[in-house]
Order: sequence, then C-alpha cells, then structure tokens
Amino acid sequence: MPANKNTKNKKGSKSIGVFDSGVGGLSILKELQKTLPNENFVFLADQKYVPYGEKSKKELIKLVYRITDYFIEHHNIKMMVVACNTATCGTINELREKYSFPIIGTVPAIKVAAEKTRSGTIAVISTPSTSQSEALKDLIRDNCENLEVLNIDCKNLENAVETGNFDNPNIDNLLLKYLEKIKNSDADYLVLGCTHYPFLKKSIRKIVGSRVKLLDSGKAISRHTSSLLKNKFMKNAQKKLGKNKYFTTGDSKEFSKVASILLNKKIKTKGVKI
Ligand code: DGL
Repeated sequence: MPANKNTKNKKGSKSIGVFDSGVGGLSILKELQKTLPNENFVFLADQKYVPYGEKSKKELIKLVYRITDYFIEHHNIKMMVVACNTATCGTINELREKYSFPIIGTVPAIKVAAEKTRSGTIAVISTPSTSQSEALKDLIRDNCENLEVLNIDCKNLENAVETGNFDNPNIDNLLLKYLEKIKNSDADYLVLGCTHYPFLKKSIRKIVGSRVKLLDSGKAISRHTSSLLKNKFMKNAQKKLGKNKYFTTGDSKEFSKVASILLNKKIKTKGVKI
C-alpha cells in the first residue's frame, strides 16, 4: 500500500489547542469537532481573566503568550485556534511572529456580510476592545466601500453568557439596549463579532426579527482549519474519534456545568493555574 503523507507524519497525532477567555470559544470548538471528528482538541477557557473585551492590547498579548506556552509545554500542540475575536484582533500578528506552528484566528465575518448585503447596510456587534481595534477598522475599510456599517460595542454581554442562564432578564435588557439601533436601521446582516454571541442567537432573533440575517464565524473557521491541516499534511490519520480535553483557569465545576449546557453533552473540566 503506498504510504500516505498523513500517516507518515507523526505531527498529525498531536492535539490542536483552542482557547478563549471563557465559554464563548465553545461555539467555535463545536464546529471544529463536527468538521474534524478524528482530531484531538485541547480547549482552554481563560476565565481568570474574563472579560478580554475590556483589556488593552498590551495586557492581551501577555495573556495569549502565556496560554500558547502552556499549550506547548503541557499539550505539545501541532496548531492553535484563537477562538476569540478580541484576542485575534489584538494579538494575532504578535502570536504569528513569535510562534512557528500554524495559528488560526477568528475575526468578525464582515467580508461575508459585505458580499451578501442587498440593503447596503450591515451591522457588527462585538466587545469594546474588538470594536475599537485597528483590525476591525481595517476589515471594514477593506471590504465595505460604499456600505453603511453600524459598529456597536456590547460591554458586559459576554459576562451574561458566562453564567449559562439564558432566562436571565439581564441578557434581554442588554440586548434590547445594544440592538435598538440595528432594529431601526436598514441593516439586513448582523455580524456576531464575539464567540460568546452565537449562544444568544435565539434572543437576538427575537429582537431584530427575521429580516436581519445573523452571521458568525464558526463554520468558516472549521473549514479553514480543515484545509490548512490538509495542505500542510498535518491531519490526524486515526480512524477513531479524537479526544477532547477541557481546561479552565477559573472554576472547573462551574465551567463544566455551563459547557455541558452549551454543548448539550456532559463535559468534564480540569482547573489549571497558569
Ligand atoms: N469571546 C471573546 C470574543 O470573541 C471575548 C469575550 C470577552 O472575554 O470579552 O471576543
């Protein structure tokens, strides 16, 4: 049988590190697990420092370097997915400069919204840090010529998702406040520019109505990860299902509880001090 480049490549069996400030990154991990069921994933929620959305670029760089070093030292990863728009917008260039393995980032799906809009108005909601970042401004400048873009920062919305309690009236109140401008505009696409927000899709739809289509990055990230693994001959050749490990720098019991609700399966988490 001819040797397959994937089976020959020992790198393939290593894990893929995925991180976010908290539970939001699970919306990306969920898609990665669906698209790449034979890969091993290590997920880290940096809940000790959530929210990232109110941190400076300098603080973010320090946080993500330490997470990447942890993944390398303790999990020997072959690749990393930054399942966080805030960390990507603030630190992806620095990360790629410092580390030599492939690093995939998550950015708001502005380009897709700009291509699809018919009304000429799109909206993006994100954390304050993403909303004010150069990376987001560049994305808008490069893709949205002649379009109106409502760029809305949603302070504290990610914290509401962290609780896992979606019946909490606080979430609806925050959403009503942040989405009002969109409701009263011509926007036909709303970009969910924070990985926590896809878990709020139901509540967001209730407010903006069916006229506004919601866009998140989960599927695009998983497709991109898959083709990168293939192109770099780094795919895991195992036929069995991959292993998934969950870690948090916060409270492991609480993370397990919320992650089990969000992923709709039992999740066991270990606490780590890094
Ligand atoms: N989930 C993250 C994002 O996509 C960050 C949320 C936060 O910690 O502020 O931006």
